Amino acid sequence: MHAFNTVVATAVALASTAYHISLVSAGPVDNNLLSRNPFPQAAPALAAVPTACPGVPAISFPFQVASGWAATKVAGNLTLPRGIVVDTQGRLLMVQNGIGISQHILTSGGCIQSSRVLIAQTNLNHGIYLSPNGTTLYASSPTTVWSWTYDPASGNVLGSYTVLVTGMVNSGHITRTLIIPPHAPNLLLVAHGSNGNVDAAAVNPATARAVVRVFDLSNLPSGGYNYVTQGYLMGYGLRNEVALAFDGNNMPGSLPGDDFQRTVNGVTTDIHQDNPAEELNYLGDVTVPNNNWYGYPVCYTVWQPSLITDRVFAPGDQFVAAPNSTFNDTTCIQQSQPAHMIFQSHNAPIDSKFDATFSNLFITLHGSWDRQPAAGFRLVSVPFAQNSAGAYVPTAATNSTSGWQDILYQADPSNCSGTTCIRPAGLAFVAGGNLYMTSDNQREGELFLVGRVG
Ligand SMILES: *[C@@H]1O[C@H](CO)[C@@H](O)[C@H](O)[C@H]1NC(C)=O
Ligand SMILES: *[C@@H]1O[C@H](CO)[C@@H](O)[C@H](O)[C@H]1NC(C)=O
Ligand SMILES: *[C@@H]1O[C@H](CO)[C@@H](O)[C@H](O)[C@H]1NC(C)=O
Ligand SMILES: *[C@@H]1O[C@H](CO)[C@@H](O)[C@H](O)[C@H]1NC(C)=O
Ligand SMILES: *[C@@H]1O[C@H](CO)[C@@H](O)[C@H](O)[C@H]1NC(C)=O
Ligand SMILES: *[C@@H]1O[C@H](CO)[C@@H](O)[C@H](O)[C@H]1NC(C)=O
Repeated sequence: MHAFNTVVATAVALASTAYHISLVSAGPVDNNLLSRNPFPQAAPALAAVPTACPGVPAISFPFQVASGWAATKVAGNLTLPRGIVVDTQGRLLMVQNGIGISQHILTSGGCIQSSRVLIAQTNLNHGIYLSPNGTTLYASSPTTVWSWTYDPASGNVLGSYTVLVTGMVNSGHITRTLIIPPHAPNLLLVAHGSNGNVDAAAVNPATARAVVRVFDLSNLPSGGYNYVTQGYLMGYGLRNEVALAFDGNNMPGSLPGDDFQRTVNGVTTDIHQDNPAEELNYLGDVTVPNNNWYGYPVCYTVWQPSLITDRVFAPGDQFVAAPNSTFNDTTCIQQSQPAHMIFQSHNAPIDSKFDATFSNLFITLHGSWDRQPAAGFRLVSVPFAQNSAGAYVPTAATNSTSGWQDILYQADPSNCSGTTCIRPAGLAFVAGGNLYMTSDNQREGELFLVGRVG
């Protein structure tokens, strides 16, 4: 129902949706922390966030910062800044939707010394990643994934691009998040959201929508892979997994719907304000196909049980939008993979990065369009711990509605929109343990450095 056909409409398309975070996992434990996020430091010395960066105008949109944290604007006047990565020499690379990839040389304090456009390509709209060894740069448009040879010494791109993946749909949810497991750098994960709010056909994984797929780059066919017919599945029924991250076992995790109704015996109730929940999904070992169904567009997860009046639910329970004689809420439990954790409806997770010890997953919640009052518009951290089996799991229960800490947030987000409040988008850790965060507010794109104080 929300079809956005042009790149220009991207910010609007993103604003329109709710997303999942997926954690992907990968067999043997790899403790090479330096190869993650993609390059955070293991047990870093705490670097101070500067109180201001010279020459950078004041913040455009006010926000609060949690006690013990600081956030400083390091750049403004950016054009819909989305994904960011830091190269092995500490340069920041950023997708600006409508420009391409910009490169920013940082001062030792974390401010920007100089900036340039590294790759001028206006269709790049969100996805960016660096190979674990730092010498191949990846980026995506709605339809295509490319790579470039990247020289960390000079910071230059060498030669032309290589087409890696083609054949994705240029409508509906059009961000193609990219992520590569540190222990298997030949594998490229590409997320593809649904084509619209409720994409009925996407219940069939052969549509290759509402899925995450994996491509083996060591076997790249001439002209690249076709997204729909090649590669393998890392889960389906995943509405729009924009925020993908690997946990400490290299397992990826990912984040679902709006305009929501429940229809029981012909009676339809609008439950969209606070349902369904945003989900944190766990995708498992990336080196083997994951053919599991995560429920979309049939099964969803409850956030606010009181809005669903035909029966008693708890937060985190699965429900079917329209139960019938052959498919009810119990069928969801039997057939669909449940979320590992839930977030408030319409918060729209956009990126997620673990800290160096995998103790906290930082998540940007871009914010709502289809909820009055508005919600989201914040950066949160979700505590994780290893369970007795060694898996990384959120410390909050699966029915918890408060499993995170607000780090950077609005005192009252109720009147926020894509032009009036900070819109957290991309995240990247740097040496010293601080975190860069983009905000793609349509009036001014900004970049912040966020870190602990003291
Ligand atoms: C903002 O960036 C544009 C180019 O993208 C430039 O023309 C303009 O001067 C910049 N404005 C400020 C205040 O820096
Ligand atoms: C670095 O990684 C890329 C992508 O996986 C690979 O193509 C390249 O051969 C690697 N380079 C070295 C020197 O290992
Ligand atoms: C959440 O689940 C726990 C047990 O797993 C239960 O004790 C608690 O009552 C549940 N909370 C809600 C709000 O359903
Ligand atoms: C019952 O619901 C399921 C899931 O939405 C659907 O696939 C099926 O076609 C429905 N059956 C009938 C008889 O409507
Ligand atoms: C759900 O369907 C199953 C079998 O399809 C049935 O046994 C069960 O009673 C149904 N549950 C509800 C709550 O209708
Ligand atoms: C939100 O907007 C309403 C209506 O314009 C206004 O009454 C209210 O004070 C605003 N709230 C905040 C926190 O700005």
